Amino acid sequence: MKLIRNIIKTADGSSTIFLPELQDTYHSKHGAIQESNHIFIKTGLKYIVDNQQKLNLNILEIGFGTGLNCLMTFLENEKLNKNINYVGIEAFPITTEEAQQLNYINELNATKSKLVFEQIHQLSWNQKHSISPYFNLTKRLEKIENIADINQYDIIYFDAFGAQVQPELWTEIIFEKMYNALKKNGILVTYSAKGSVRRAMQSVGFQTERLPGPPGKREMLRATKI
Ligand SMILES: C[S@@+](CC[C@H](N)C(=O)[O-])C[C@H]1O[C@@H](n2cnc3c(N)ncnc32)[C@H](O)[C@@H]1O
Repeated sequence: MKLIRNIIKTADGSSTIFLPELQDTYHSKHGAIQESNHIFIKTGLKYIVDNQQKLNLNILEIGFGTGLNCLMTFLENEKLNKNINYVGIEAFPITTEEAQQLNYINELNATKSKLVFEQIHQLSWNQKHSISPYFNLTKRLEKIENIADINQYDIIYFDAFGAQVQPELWTEIIFEKMYNALKKNGILVTYSAKGSVRRAMQSVGFQTERLPGPPGKREMLRATKI
């Protein structure tokens, strides 16, 4: 998938990437940071922290892209003080030049973590790196379709392109892989609230919840491996 990538600004002032050929963006046009914070941090990470007393958390991100969700998780963990193992799956990484144009550090008032965001993009693929004593990152250069992890994760951030662009990634086959990759009581959170997506999740064993979405989106989904 060699596509033209343009960096644009979303409504909350934070950057995202626009793909003119697919007419799709990496984040909601209503606000990239706002979306990440609502779906992945509040409804995913904080929900697990509040409901399961765990010191160690394994997180899998499907579609690593700009690294925004990874940065937001790192910053949130400064307050949570958990030991996080973060695995990001990406088949079409952005370039260092593209990463340098993303304004997340400024928008998040996180100048102290500028180096962390640079590291997130510069670290080698397919190796586990320690970003801080409490945060390990493994970026896997791999297709989502090939994931075969079993019983490893507490949380999955499912952030592939939408079903209108990549219908093959919102199917029972993929959600079965996600189900298998989660530990018991692990959760998957995603911005999609489509009925067909929810039914595909349910058919592989997930219990699903429709929850309020971020600004500009009525609903989102959280799926639990029971
Ligand atoms: C909606 S974007 C989200 C990116 C990311 N979560 C972020 O915050 O920037 C989807 C990401 O999935 C990646 N992707 C698309 N198809 C893929 C596939 N088959 N395997 C692995 N990654 C894929 C894209 O390159 C893109 O980075």
